[in-house]
Amino acid sequence: MDSIIESRITIKPLHPRFVAEVTGIDLTVPVPREDFRVIWAAFNEHQVLVFRDQHFDDASQIAFSRHFGELETMIAHPGNDWNPGHISVMTNLGKDGNVLPPDHPSMLHRARNEDWHSDSSFKPVAALASLLAARIVPPAGGNTEFASARAAWADLPAERKAALEGLTALHRMTLRDADKDKGYKDEDKKRHVVTHPLVRANPVNGRKALYVGAHAQEIVGMPQEAGARLIDELTAYCTQAQYVYSHPWRDGDAVLWDNRCTLHRATPFDATTYKRRLHRTTIAGKSPDSAFATLPGA
Ligand SMILES: [Fe+2]
Repeated sequence: MDSIIESRITIKPLHPRFVAEVTGIDLTVPVPREDFRVIWAAFNEHQVLVFRDQHFDDASQIAFSRHFGELETMIAHPGNDWNPGHISVMTNLGKDGNVLPPDHPSMLHRARNEDWHSDSSFKPVAALASLLAARIVPPAGGNTEFASARAAWADLPAERKAALEGLTALHRMTLRDADKDKGYKDEDKKRHVVTHPLVRANPVNGRKALYVGAHAQEIVGMPQEAGARLIDELTAYCTQAQYVYSHPWRDGDAVLWDNRCTLHRATPFDATTYKRRLHRTTIAGKSPDSAFATLPGA
């Protein structure tokens, strides 16, 4: 039975270390359990899945995302048009469909996404996965870039791994560049300060990854500056060219990534000329050490 399913759903690697393209399935209609099982296995193995020819609306994107678990509800901020809900809108367009001026709060908020990060790492229950689906894509630029912190970890010498395992990082929603945090209320900024292990293992296959990025800012038990330097060094190490896949968006693309073991960032495009709108759903994890050892919903 599995062989029939696997012959219909095609999974093709797009990078030597991670990322696969998935075709042969329509995610905008109810996905059978056995098909989800194939996707779940591919997600745990490849870390980033690029689905082609999907034309989600918000309802179908939410319905598919729910296969992976409970969805995050965002606080109101410029990236979701000040509406709390399950959809975050990544766009340079206003409600009227026209390009926003560069000094609009939503455009300023965009700059936050250009630092390498893992979604919601500043929450006590960090995100398991994010699904970003194209609605309008620009003809050039605006790639989303992904880095495999799992591949990077695998390449570290054993003695470095031993020195890093067991360390705990402090994550904040705020970025060190305070200019990028405009639009958030002070109470929200204070609420989102948490700690997570610096090294996380995937509960399905046991493979470990560094858990760093822009929200990780200190190491518990280390002087603040030294901890920040270590995190910066590890984030730079994970985002070297050999660990990075840059995704050029096509119409109908939907990209799902594992926030436990990858970092990502937005890249610029000509936002005064081209239109771009992508909608994101975010699947909440469980605790970082125990998230989903088994198939969600099993
Ligand atoms: Fe993000």
